[in-house]
Amino acid sequence: NRSVTIPDFAAWKTEGRKISVLTAYEFSIARLLDDAGIDCLLVGDSMGTAVQGHDTTLGVTLDQIVYHAEMVARAAKRALVVADLPFLSYQVSRRQAIRSGGRMLKETRCQAVKLEGGTRMAATIRSLVDAEIPVMGHVGLTPQSVRRFGGYKVQRQADAIRADAQAVADSGAFAIVLECVPAELAATITAEIPIPTIGIGAGAACDGQVLVLHDMLGLLDDFRPRFARRYAELGDVIRNAAARYIKDVESGDFPTEGESFR
Ligand code: KIV
Ligand code: NA
Repeated sequence: NRSVTIPDFAAWKTEGRKISVLTAYEFSIARLLDDAGIDCLLVGDSMGTAVQGHDTTLGVTLDQIVYHAEMVARAAKRALVVADLPFLSYQVSRRQAIRSGGRMLKETRCQAVKLEGGTRMAATIRSLVDAEIPVMGHVGLTPQSVRRFGGYKVQRQADAIRADAQAVADSGAFAIVLECVPAELAATITAEIPIPTIGIGAGAACDGQVLVLHDMLGLLDDFRPRFARRYAELGDVIRNAAARYIKDVESGDFPTEGESFR
């Protein structure tokens, strides 16, 4: 039961062993996901929507990701932990990217960073990798581009996305997220590039899959994208538990003598 490493990702692609990834933002849940045997935990800037309640990821700061990545990486005994570089923590310059990625590795026990963008981020990915900071790429629907996209939509510019994925692989990234691209395009890219593809809304041919924790656990009622299969309805579980507690407090059924000190 040794820890997952960066080289495992390349080996798993060769072997055809699928890679499981979930997002995590804090210690207790990260420990449970690790116990369950998840291969990789992503401290996603999706915390902007899932945890902070914003409607985009744009406001998430590097300090916030470091804070959450430290807790998640401390919980993980086996899973590889990857932390997102948030908006404007790597786009300014390659120096800035190395400083931001370096902070993640120096201040938390995470093993890699993820950043969004293909061809236009190739030199930045290369600089991080040269500085010994492993990088996971992310192309297709890149949520930090939401203002340019004008919303969250399936990305269908096949030639551009293929070139982006190739550029990420050529720059030394160890894996790449394909978000909201047609399944046939994701299959083509998965066959074309040497690094594992991790899909979200990208079909079954990818080398691995990732879901946002809050989506797969049913914690947010108003967000149900078609690709986010719900493995639990924790929203209902939590609401019911809270309602029973409130009722017991009001009726005086809680606490009992056994739940009190003499
Ligand atoms: O922030 C995030 O959760 C992500 C995944 C959806 C890939 O980037
Ligand atoms: Na992200």
